[in-house]
Amino acid sequence: MFRVTRRYEFAASHRLHSAELSEERNRELYGKCNNPYGHGHNYVVEVSVRGPLDRASGRAVDTERLDGLVRAQVIAPFDHRNLNAEVEGFARVVPTSENLGYEICRRLKRSWKETFPGEWPKLEKIRIGETPRNIFEVTADEIE
Ligand code: NI
Repeated sequence: MFRVTRRYEFAASHRLHSAELSEERNRELYGKCNNPYGHGHNYVVEVSVRGPLDRASGRAVDTERLDGLVRAQVIAPFDHRNLNAEVEGFARVVPTSENLGYEICRRLKRSWKETFPGEWPKLEKIRIGETPRNIFEVTADEIE
């Protein structure tokens, strides 16, 4: 069994602000990230996939197919966007990297079977680097 991890990048802006909290609490909690006009990140997303070696191809995952899926479901809708305003799912959900991880995982799972109709490979986890110091990890099995 192999684990294959592919790294992707996109740039996007966001504002961290929860409608469930007061203005003051939002400022306290998110600091500069609560700035009303938002700010940007160069996000690094790592997608890890697990599967056995296919004898004929000598590979565990068709990376072209994985790239196509990630491009369609994540890069095209997120790159150079304002996440709060332009990505369905963040109209009411705060676009923290934790929630971004959930959203990316959900999108990949939703289209997984169309891309990989066989038993393998399976989506294992997503890692998001918001800055070099902040890495967030979501296991695909945790998501519905
Ligand atoms: Ni931020």
